[in-house]
Amino acid sequence: MSWGPFAEGMNDFFHNPVLQAIAKKHHKGVGQVALRYLLDLDVVVIPKSTKPERMAENIDVFDFSLDDEDKAQIAALDENHSICYDHTNLNTVTGLLDMIKASM
Ligand SMILES: NC(=O)c1ccc[n+]([C@@H]2O[C@H](COP(=O)([O-])OP(=O)(O)OC[C@H]3O[C@@H](n4cnc5c(N)ncnc54)[C@H](OP(=O)(O)O)[C@@H]3O)[C@@H](O)[C@H]2O)c1
Repeated sequence: MSWGPFAEGMNDFFHNPVLQAIAKKHHKGVGQVALRYLLDLDVVVIPKSTKPERMAENIDVFDFSLDDEDKAQIAALDENHSICYDHTNLNTVTGLLDMIKASM
């Protein structure tokens, strides 16, 4: 079974130079920039951390705004495919169905 893009792992998100530059500009972290961007798109975000300092960081995203240039730079990072579960990928869907069948 192939998991497609999922098997390739994550994309070194926290070291992305575009996100790092935007974070530096706003005196925020990369995670905070991402959360702010998604909230501005009305995406429901569910950040999870085991570390109290990161929990505090992840909720501290309501005192700054991304400008149009920031948003355009982040939008340009879109590679038009999911790095996690791509539910339009036949291999992924087949793999999920196999997992469900195996657990029955
Ligand atoms: N993904 C799914 O398909 C799915 C489905 C249903 C429900 N959920 C629920 O949604 C929530 C989130 O799931 P998830 O899959 O996104 O969680 P996850 O990938 O398992 O955990 C989040 C990861 O991000 C790290 N992190 C959090 N804040 C960070 C920050 N500010 N800077 C750097 N790293 C940070 C955490 O590390 P540390 O702990 O070391 O901070 C952890 O490794 C969970 O409650 C999960 O049960 C997820």
